[in-house]
Amino acid sequence: MKEPKNCVFIATSIDGYIADKNDGLEWLNAVPNPNNDDMGYVEFIKEIDALVMGRNTFETVLGFDVDWPYDKPVFVLSNKLKVIPVSHKEKAFLLKGNLGEILDQIHQKGFTRLYIDGGATIRSFLQEDLIDEMALSTIPVLLGGGSPLFNGLPKELKFELVKSKTYINQITQNHYKRIR
Ligand SMILES: NC(=O)c1ccc[n+]([C@@H]2O[C@H](COP(=O)([O-])OP(=O)(O)OC[C@H]3O[C@@H](n4cnc5c(N)ncnc54)[C@H](OP(=O)(O)O)[C@@H]3O)[C@@H](O)[C@H]2O)c1
Repeated sequence: MKEPKNCVFIATSIDGYIADKNDGLEWLNAVPNPNNDDMGYVEFIKEIDALVMGRNTFETVLGFDVDWPYDKPVFVLSNKLKVIPVSHKEKAFLLKGNLGEILDQIHQKGFTRLYIDGGATIRSFLQEDLIDEMALSTIPVLLGGGSPLFNGLPKELKFELVKSKTYINQITQNHYKRIR
């Protein structure tokens, strides 16, 4: 079994939001990407065993007019959702509880390298210092409000920059690793 690690791969606006004031994501496509550069996503997802995402992000992805984009198990965190829609019950699995218990359950199934997604979910992992790596892509737009990626951290967490890359001449992507 591979060493457990929890990774973030997310895009933010210059002012640090992951969704705009209307919960919209159209600004993610603000920079034309005619050759469909995956901006490191394929390389990132290859090293991942499973995803852990908050209910809001799960519902956002379900609402996209595309096929289900993941070929790895998706663990959805929710207190409100009672069941995963039948259409996705082989692909997504509901979990709740404290993060330690949630991670134990996922690790016991053999999935150790995890992609953590969703604003509230990422923040709750950071609050317990459970994020090991973050790839943050900055879209060159100021949204002026919306859902912030970071806030409410109880203590300082130091990271080191391990890689920095610019995609389509406009989008910077910084890879950080937690210094423990
Ligand atoms: N920019 C990007 O690349 C990017 C990436 C991902 C998402 N987004 C956007 O970000 C927004 C979603 O972020 P969000 O802040 O709403 O957060 P989220 O993490 O997607 O969802 C939050 C919900 O997850 C559930 N949850 C989280 N931790 C839990 C735990 N330990 N136990 C049980 N349930 C837990 C709760 O659901 P219940 O209320 O059901 O209990 C909570 O309300 C959406 O607009 C999405 O489209 C953007």
